[in-house]
Amino acid sequence: MKQSIVLTGDRPSGPLHLGHYVGSLAARVSLQEEYKQYIMIADVQALTDNVDNPAKVRANVMEVALDYLAVGIDPAKTTIFIQSLIPEIAELTVFFLNLVTVSRLQRNPTVKSEIAHKKYEGESVTAGFLAYPVSQAADILIVHGTLVPVGNDQLPMIEQANEIAKTFNRTYGVTLFDHIEPLISSSARLPGIDGIHKMSKSLGNAIDLRDNADIVAQKVMRMYTDPDHHHVHEPGRVEGNTVFTYLDLFDKDINEVMHLKEWYQRGGLGDVVLKKTTY
Ligand code: TRP
Repeated sequence: MKQSIVLTGDRPSGPLHLGHYVGSLAARVSLQEEYKQYIMIADVQALTDNVDNPAKVRANVMEVALDYLAVGIDPAKTTIFIQSLIPEIAELTVFFLNLVTVSRLQRNPTVKSEIAHKKYEGESVTAGFLAYPVSQAADILIVHGTLVPVGNDQLPMIEQANEIAKTFNRTYGVTLFDHIEPLISSSARLPGIDGIHKMSKSLGNAIDLRDNADIVAQKVMRMYTDPDHHHVHEPGRVEGNTVFTYLDLFDKDINEVMHLKEWYQRGGLGDVVLKKTTY
């Protein structure tokens, strides 16, 4: 059996945060030990919904690259590349565009929900945005990627890429492209510091990977705990308490976390003291 080739990528529309780490970056750090892995900084794709702001996309290319290095993605093991510097991806996209219908693109569930979300009015959605799944198929197939770590929202992209690959092989009588398997992230979504929504740059509830110790401390101090825990001596709730969600995920000292949970539930452990144990 052929060894899988991993390809994944991120749109450089902002710095990466802890939610990215839990949801995908940590897995990539292990995948590089087992597989040939490519990670693409998808600046061309980022431009599809930042048409009027290329400066933002450009500024975040290096930012995202630094975030990769910071979490332990090792350039000796993983090939990190910038989409716009490989013009062959754009060329392959042009050939793929002949193999997919406009109505198929309009039915792509991810594209559909993104269009609804961004409230494109009437006919204002651009051809470039509508066709980004085709360009994403080229991202994967240019390196003969066969294993793509993704969140659920990206599954329709893989399905569409497989259709394109099959159509290409059939139309031109070749066996150039292999089947692509998604590798679905098993980790739960990390809540942001508001404790309500998943961590997201646009909601302002993110701890960025580039944040320094002071900023992290400030954000932890704003972190949502048990809203009914008004007095230190009263028992507090651990379930759904964001600080404990984070401790469960990031504190390797299980005994310490257990001790803090018991103390908090018994009463006597204040939020500020609890939070100070985290950094
Ligand atoms: N669409 C992905 C995102 O928004 C980024 C991406 C671009 C990607 N090309 C890819 C992911 C190829 C996996 C494979 O996060």
